[in-house]
Amino acid sequence: MKSALILGITGQDGSYLAEQLLAEGWAVHGLVRRASMFNRSRIEHLRAAPAPGRLTLHYGDLTDVTSLRRILEKEKPQEIYHLAGQSHVGLSFEIPEVTCEENGTATLSLLEILRDLGYPVKLYHAASSEIFGAPAIAPQNEATACNPVNPYGCAKAFAAQLCRVYRNAYGLFACNGIAYNHESPRRGENFVTRKITLGAARIKAGQQAEIALGNLDARRDWGWAPEYVAAMRLMLAAPAADDYVLATGLACSVREFAAAAFAELDLELAFEGQGTAELARRKDTGAVVLRVDSKFHRPVESTTLVGDSSRAKAKLGWAARTVGGDVARLMARADYAALSS
Ligand code: NAP
Ligand code: GDD
Repeated sequence: MKSALILGITGQDGSYLAEQLLAEGWAVHGLVRRASMFNRSRIEHLRAAPAPGRLTLHYGDLTDVTSLRRILEKEKPQEIYHLAGQSHVGLSFEIPEVTCEENGTATLSLLEILRDLGYPVKLYHAASSEIFGAPAIAPQNEATACNPVNPYGCAKAFAAQLCRVYRNAYGLFACNGIAYNHESPRRGENFVTRKITLGAARIKAGQQAEIALGNLDARRDWGWAPEYVAAMRLMLAAPAADDYVLATGLACSVREFAAAAFAELDLELAFEGQGTAELARRKDTGAVVLRVDSKFHRPVESTTLVGDSSRAKAKLGWAARTVGGDVARLMARADYAALSS
């Protein structure tokens, strides 16, 4: 039976990936961290699935190299999906050392383990559009120069380049997915998209009064997480290892994303900072006010992140189908349905 190890199986992407692999008959091993409360809500349904014996969870941590080595030597998975680490860009300014240890140094440790393993293994590394940070050109592709502007982007750039080094130096089958933002109803609640859609659903259900956000004019290339997870699989199924930009090619602003989510739930939205008369008029009609709170602003904001996925289209036959406003509508609907059920 084919087997895969997912680092980050309890996360958004890891949970969708586990679903896809199990559905195709793979044995799936997942690394889970010890926490004071169980943190497996995204994969709980898989533990009770029709083939329970094919999903095995192992306690470990990215920063505990011995446990990683032991799991790999014992289970000998053919494919490893490295999706684990501190994934919040804003928080990387608050906890830069842990961000760089998990996203940077731990990836180097993993590559070193794979170099010694003694059997062929394929690695997917979750790189990020944040390696480009403030790029000189838009859209970006695999050849665009790295210019990260936050600790998270620095760590991802370091790890992505090391994957290339181990591919070239030791022939390791290591692929970087240079993924742009991808979202779903399983997105962590402190990322802007989920904060908006969950907030809108709670407001609609009378459980919340307002939403406070940071930079409403930031623009991102937002896609749909299950589609990006499918691309990870295609990358490891390709005849040779390579790096691929995974993106929709279209960016929209936080403001536009919020407008689409609120409209989907028939809620009227007013933005703080809108002309005074217009804001007053909207408030009179019962519009929900989206407040700006400077505590959600970042010291430096990444700019013009929009990706060109031509290589993924040409070599993997992959293209994003669900884009920006559609993502907002799907997430808002799912969050409201979950609250209403
Ligand atoms: P996520 O929901 O935050 O999941 C992160 C996963 O990493 C969780 O399972 C988490 O475990 C695990 N983790 C964190 N630190 C760990 C450690 N020290 N040891 C072991 N596991 C650890 O992130 P995601 O959205 O699924 O993204 C997956 C990967 O892709 C991340 O590396 C992220 O940086 C990268 N990426 C994401 C996007 C995106 O838009 N989603 C775009 C580009 C790149 P717990 O559940 O215990 O916290
Ligand atoms: N989180 C958050 N919270 N972001 C806000 C808020 C807020 O209240 N208000 C505005 N924003 C803006 C941020 O400043 C940023 O410009 C944009 O919304 C998106 O922020 P996030 O949802 O936190 O995502 P991200 O783009 O910083 O990072 C995500 O995408 C990267 C790929 O481009 C993460 O998934 C990273 O792990 C991933 O690498």
